[in-house]
Amino acid sequence: MTVRDTVLDRFREQFDEAPALVARAPGRVNLIGEHTDYNDGFVLPAAIERAVHVAARPRADSTVTLVSVDFHSDTQFSIDDLDDPDLPAWSKYPRGALWWLQNRGHSLPGFDAVIGGDIPIGAGLSSSAAVEVVMIELGLALTGAEMSQQDKALAGVEVEHQFIGMPCGVMDQMASAMGVAQHALLIDCRSLDVRQVKMPAGASIVIMDTAKRRGLVDSAYARRREECEAAAEILGVEALRDATRDGLEAARDRLSSVLYRRARHIITENLRVQAAALALGSTHGGGLKTAGQALRDSHASLRDDYEVSCYELDVMVDIANAQAGCYGARMTGAGFGGCAVALVDEGAVEAFVAAVGPVYAEKTGLEPHLYVTQAAAGSGVERV
Ligand code: GLA
Repeated sequence: MTVRDTVLDRFREQFDEAPALVARAPGRVNLIGEHTDYNDGFVLPAAIERAVHVAARPRADSTVTLVSVDFHSDTQFSIDDLDDPDLPAWSKYPRGALWWLQNRGHSLPGFDAVIGGDIPIGAGLSSSAAVEVVMIELGLALTGAEMSQQDKALAGVEVEHQFIGMPCGVMDQMASAMGVAQHALLIDCRSLDVRQVKMPAGASIVIMDTAKRRGLVDSAYARRREECEAAAEILGVEALRDATRDGLEAARDRLSSVLYRRARHIITENLRVQAAALALGSTHGGGLKTAGQALRDSHASLRDDYEVSCYELDVMVDIANAQAGCYGARMTGAGFGGCAVALVDEGAVEAFVAAVGPVYAEKTGLEPHLYVTQAAAGSGVERV
């Protein structure tokens, strides 16, 4: 049974009638361009086939009833009182999106809703961005207002910054709202220009969940962001996106070793994103190999210069990179646990998946989950 069907069934069971709307927002996997988004740089994510769905029906009063399939929990609150700290923690992301809409003058009705998804939670596949975007989709549909996909994404980013308190970049919400089937998105995180890069035939995206859950990621993330801002200031640039390797070398004795390495990661990662996007989009043979090498180099840089990998991610990436048919693998998302991603030859995927899991389990004692996915379409809403 698909998640959409589960959510629809649960709605009928709970509320004794059919929903009026079903909204959907996918998770994302970042192929390359890690920690570059908040440096005004380049990223190359794709929306994935796993998504959050919410089925809903407006009410005549201002009460919201929200049922979470994944958290086996439900809650009720008033659409006019969205930041009550006593409400369950899982409801904070959906409430944040409603809060954003209310703040922007969209006057929302109360509604009954069921939310559920198949994006593993806390694994670095942007389940929270998907919840924000899906609730923005739902809220807009309930009021009949329209917004561009980009603006829906930026709304989700503001929810993170202003309601959740996470200083994230724009990548996750942009991928969730703007994804295109069979395409990765080359996003310029300064201009917000998006170029669709067709995924080459013959390659599959394999997501490898290490089953190691990220600890302290929020504080480490905020620290990286501060380090980047400090390095940009010393280099005399607006953001590290504007720094060059030559400029970095010239300023080396004014930078601590940590700031030097953080900046080197961002500068080289932006170059690797461009190289990978070009290679994936090229019609000549060898593109996947070049892109795969960029993924491998990205991992080394995140591990050594940016220091956001961990033992489990390194083990997973090494095992993946050693398999026949693997063009390249790297950690994906904020790091410190969660998922790695690999580009794998379609014909080798089955053997890849069969081989990687057991070797990883033996080395770490953790049970990994591997998902094969194609790039998927971004968020939307349907009337049912
Ligand atoms: C998280 C953030 C993104 C991005 C990545 C790292 O997913 O939400 O904005 O910074 O980490 O690339």
